[in-house]
Amino acid sequence: MDISAFSDHYHVRCLNHTDIPAIMDLCRGNPLYYQYCRPFVSEKSIARDMAALPPGKDLSDKYYIGYFDGSRLTAVMDLILAFPDQQTAFIGFFMTDASVQKKGIGSKIIEELCINLKKYGYLSVRLGWVKGNPQAEHFWKKNGFTETGVTYDTDGYTVVVAHKDL
Ligand SMILES: CC(C)(COP(=O)(O)OP(=O)(O)OC[C@H]1O[C@@H](n2cnc3c(N)ncnc32)[C@H](O)[C@@H]1OP(=O)(O)O)[C@@H](O)C(=O)NCCC(=O)NCCS
Repeated sequence: MDISAFSDHYHVRCLNHTDIPAIMDLCRGNPLYYQYCRPFVSEKSIARDMAALPPGKDLSDKYYIGYFDGSRLTAVMDLILAFPDQQTAFIGFFMTDASVQKKGIGSKIIEELCINLKKYGYLSVRLGWVKGNPQAEHFWKKNGFTETGVTYDTDGYTVVVAHKDL
């Protein structure tokens, strides 16, 4: 998949281990997220997330993506294609730099992502937010995601599963 086409504005590329300090800086600016999804971010947890895969998937379908404004990392997304089924893409994580939030940047990135996924034949996008996290819930609902009714408990918190048809 050509992820460089995912944004008209940002330079989009896969992130690697040399990007960990920049990812760390971006994540550190979002303490609310980690109040709901503990533990707080660390270089180790980022490295783990870079390699994390849902059951039955391999790295060929995983895109741990950075959106860059010049050299500045503005957003990070963990995208898994064809999960949980062939027509669905799964967003495992999405975060924008706190200094540019509430300006529509996150919504624009998701809008452009959905347009691109549709071009590749995907029919829906799935994701989860930690129950009770107002920022995540409001953001995804504002972007057209609806609760599936499925929730699951993991690591001491409850995840609300949501999806959007493309
Ligand atoms: C959620 C997030 C990606 C939004 O990024 P953004 O660039 O600010 O996105 P937008 O400006 O397009 O949308 C902002 C919307 O997010 C929601 N939002 C943001 N902060 C909020 C807060 N403190 N309380 C409730 N809703 C909030 C609102 O729906 C807001 O819309 P509004 O401005 O119309 O009220 C960003 O706040 C973030 O990275 N949060 C931490 C990580 C996270 O929760 N990710 C989602 C779960 S994986």
